[in-house]
Amino acid sequence: MCGIVGYIGNKDAYPILIKGLQRLEYRGYDSAGIALFNGSLNIYKQKGKVSQLISFTTEKDKKGSIGIGHTRWATHGEPNDVNAHPHTSGNGRLTLIHNGIIENYAPIKAMLQREGHVFESDTDTEVLVHLIEEIQDKENLSIEEAVRAALNKVIGAYAIVVIDRNDPDKLVAARKASPLVIGIGEGEFFIASDATPIIEHTKQVVYLNDGEIAVVSRKEGLQIKNITDNEIRTPFIHELDMQIELLEKGGYDYFMLKEIHEQPTTVDDCMRGRLNAKEGWITLGGLKEHKNKISKANRFIIAACGTSWHSGLIAEYLIEDLARIPVEVEYASEFRYRNPIITENDVVIAISQSGETADTLAALELAKRKGALTYGICNVVGSSIARVTDSGSYIHAGPEIGVASTKAFTGQVTLLTMMALCLAREKGTISNSYFHTLITELENIPRKVGEALKCDAQVKYIAEEIKDSPNALYLGRGYNFPVALEGALKLKEISYIHAEGYPAAEMKHGPIALIDENMPVVVIATNKSAYEKVVSNVQEVKARKGKIIAVVNEGEKTISEIADYTIEIPHTEEPFTPLLSVIPLQLLSYHIAVMRGCNVDQPRNLAKSVTVE
Ligand code: G6P
Repeated sequence: MCGIVGYIGNKDAYPILIKGLQRLEYRGYDSAGIALFNGSLNIYKQKGKVSQLISFTTEKDKKGSIGIGHTRWATHGEPNDVNAHPHTSGNGRLTLIHNGIIENYAPIKAMLQREGHVFESDTDTEVLVHLIEEIQDKENLSIEEAVRAALNKVIGAYAIVVIDRNDPDKLVAARKASPLVIGIGEGEFFIASDATPIIEHTKQVVYLNDGEIAVVSRKEGLQIKNITDNEIRTPFIHELDMQIELLEKGGYDYFMLKEIHEQPTTVDDCMRGRLNAKEGWITLGGLKEHKNKISKANRFIIAACGTSWHSGLIAEYLIEDLARIPVEVEYASEFRYRNPIITENDVVIAISQSGETADTLAALELAKRKGALTYGICNVVGSSIARVTDSGSYIHAGPEIGVASTKAFTGQVTLLTMMALCLAREKGTISNSYFHTLITELENIPRKVGEALKCDAQVKYIAEEIKDSPNALYLGRGYNFPVALEGALKLKEISYIHAEGYPAAEMKHGPIALIDENMPVVVIATNKSAYEKVVSNVQEVKARKGKIIAVVNEGEKTISEIADYTIEIPHTEEPFTPLLSVIPLQLLSYHIAVMRGCNVDQPRNLAKSVTVE
C-alpha cells in the first residue's frame, strides 16, 4: 500500500505529481505529500486525501521540474501531518518517499539516536532517510552509493525514491517486495507504484525488479544496478497497453459503479480469443505451455486474499466438479506460516487483482522453494505475481480503481471457469455434449451479465429498506456459498455494516440465533441442484421473522412467495451461476453505501493493493 510518484524532466513537476497521486489514491489515503526541488527543497504534506494537499498548496511555491509525491496507508505511526511522507534527513539535504515496511527500524533508530539523530515522526521511513544521511556523511558517498549501502542494512519491504538537494539532477529509486515502474519520456522520467500515473505521458516503461536500484538523471538517463553487488542490469523496456479512458469515471458518480457496469464487457474481454463455441474449442495460453504438468497435477493449491480468495473458493467447486482435480484454497497469509505440505506434483495458483499482494507473493515464493509449478491469475499486467510465476493468465479487466473489487472478481471467475473447462476437456472428465453445452452458454454470459444489471432499480429500492440495519446475513449453497461470502464482504467494506456470509444449511449452527425482524437475510437461491434445500433454509429464516431478500432465477415462484423482496436474474448453467448472482449483491452494497453517505471508492482504513504483511 501507499502510492509513490516521482518526476524529473523539463516540465513543472507539481501537476504531474498531483495527478499521479490521484491515480494512486486507491493504494491509501491517510495522508499525502510532495517535495519539489527548485534551488531548494519545498516539502508540503498533510493528513487526509490528495484533495486536502491541493487546498493546502494553493498559495504555496510550486515551481520545480524535479519532485516526488506520496499517498499513505499508515503502518507505523498514526495518520497525521508529521508522519506523512516525504521524510527528510536531519541535515535537510535528503528527502524520501517509501512504500513498504522497514522491519528492523527499531535497532537502526536506536543506533542513529546514539549518533545524535533526532526524529520527528513515528515512522520507519524517517529512520531510513536518517540512515542514508549517516552513511553518506560518514563515508562521503554519492547519493546512489549511500542509498545502496543503507538498503543493504535494512530488512523489510520497500519501494523508495530519494532526492539529494546537493545532487539535484537525479532521482534515486529502489525496490524490494513493493512495486515500482519507471516511465521513459523525451528527456524526462516518471516513477510510480504502478503505470497509471505514467500512461498519459509515455508508453515506454521499465518494471524495476526486486533488489534493484535505479538512477534517473537528465544528463545520464537511466541506470539500473543490483542493490547487493552493484552489478549493472540492462533495463527491459515494455510497451504499455492501457487506455487512458479506463482511468476516468466516465460520467459515473463512483469508479465502483462504473466498474460494476463494465462487467458485460470485461467478462467478454476475458474470453476474447480464448473460446469459440461454434468451433468447439477453449484455450488458455498459460495452461498450454505447461499442459502435462498441470493436467497431471496431484492437486491444485490456490493462495489468495480478500475477494480473490472468494474467487479461489469458486474455483474449488469448478475444478473439482468439472476436471476432478483436488483443490485446496488457502488464505495466503495463513498458508505461508503453517508449514504446509507442498510437493513437486502440486500446482500452486495465485489469484490477485493487483498482482502485488505481499502475502500472496510470499506464498508463491514458498511454493517455488518446494518445487511446485506456480501459476498466476492477475489483472495488472507486468505485476510482481505475473512476473514471478512459472506461467499464468491475465483476466484483462482493465484498471480497477474502486477499492471494493467487482469486475476483477467476475474476471477471475470467468478465467477460472475457462481453466476448469480446458482441464476437463484435456482429462476427459465431462462428456462431449456437456462440454459443448457449457462453452455455448459461457459465450452467452456477457449478455446475461448485462441483463442481470437491469435489476438495479429493484436493488436500489431494497437498499432503501435495509440501509439502516446494523447487521446482515448472506446465505448460499454450493457455487453460491462463496458468492454469499463476497456479498457480505462488499457490504462491510463500503457501508461499514457488519455482515456475514454463511453456507445456508450451516446457519442452523449459530447465526440463526441472530435472526429477528430486524435482520436482513440475503439468500442466493439460483442453483437448481440444491433448490429445495435452500427453500427449507428460507422457511427457517421466515419462521424467525427475518427479512428475506432472495436472489432467484427469472420466473421462479416458490421462494419469491416466501421472501420479502425478490431480485430476478437470468437462468444459466449451474457452474456459471456466480457470474450472475454476484451482480445484484455488488449493486446492493453500492446503493446502501451511497445512501449512508460513505465514500464508496475510498472506504475508511482499506487500501486496494496490500503490499505489507
Ligand atoms: C485488498 C483489497 C481487496 C482485494 C484484496 C486482495 O484487501 O481491498 O479488494 O480483494 O486486497 O488483493 P489482490 O490484488 O491480491 O486481489
